[in-house]
Amino acid sequence: MIGVYDSGQGGKSVLQELVKLLPEEDFTYYADTRYCPYGPRPASEVIERACAVADFLIEKGCELIVVACNTATAAAIDHLRSHYDIPFIGMEPAVKPAVLQSKTGVVGVLATKGTFKGSLYLHTLAKFKEDVKVIQQVGEGLVETVEKGVLDGPEVETLVHKCIDPMLEAGADHIVLGCTHYPFLQPVIERIAGENVTIINPAPAVARQTKKILESIKGIEPSSGKKGSISYYSSLEN
Ligand code: DGL
Repeated sequence: MIGVYDSGQGGKSVLQELVKLLPEEDFTYYADTRYCPYGPRPASEVIERACAVADFLIEKGCELIVVACNTATAAAIDHLRSHYDIPFIGMEPAVKPAVLQSKTGVVGVLATKGTFKGSLYLHTLAKFKEDVKVIQQVGEGLVETVEKGVLDGPEVETLVHKCIDPMLEAGADHIVLGCTHYPFLQPVIERIAGENVTIINPAPAVARQTKKILESIKGIEPSSGKKGSISYYSSLEN
């Protein structure tokens, strides 16, 4: 059983990639909706929630947990890895591929406040700072609109414009989606950014990494042809 969690619905953008690659696995998805958004919360609270969710998922039988949330990864992945003896796979804004592919030398990163404080992100940023200009922007209001299920329309367009216009004006040719909620707004982001801008969603890479880790634990098993199950839980009910 693989556990997948996020502050809310965003992690489902990762779950859908996991299911594509690992269709025979059983998944338990936990949305920590009562505490959403994580972005503005202090790291200590996000760590506390990460432990509560990990306890819940392990109790449900999960042997590997995908932290399908950039904010929770930034705050809590080290803590989780040192306090539990199962593997944790985390998210990180995909700055490296954006930097390597950029022709204009300007890259935009859209994420939450908490993610921009993460040591892994800051480390990656420091590494590439010399080669490219990175325009970072907190996606104000984007998590909330995805949680409400409002994924398009004039209000969403206004929010997206506010977030990405500064990147576009600076000449960004790549925009990194550094929050798992944002892929649900990708059609709007693409429409506003135009065809010359590449949007990078790290979810497929995280799914590939999960598959690799799973195979290193269990070995490559022959296909059983069975379809895996998905169970959903939320802190609103549990
Ligand atoms: N989906 C999240 C992330 O990847 C959480 C956003 C939030 O709760 O603020 O960062």
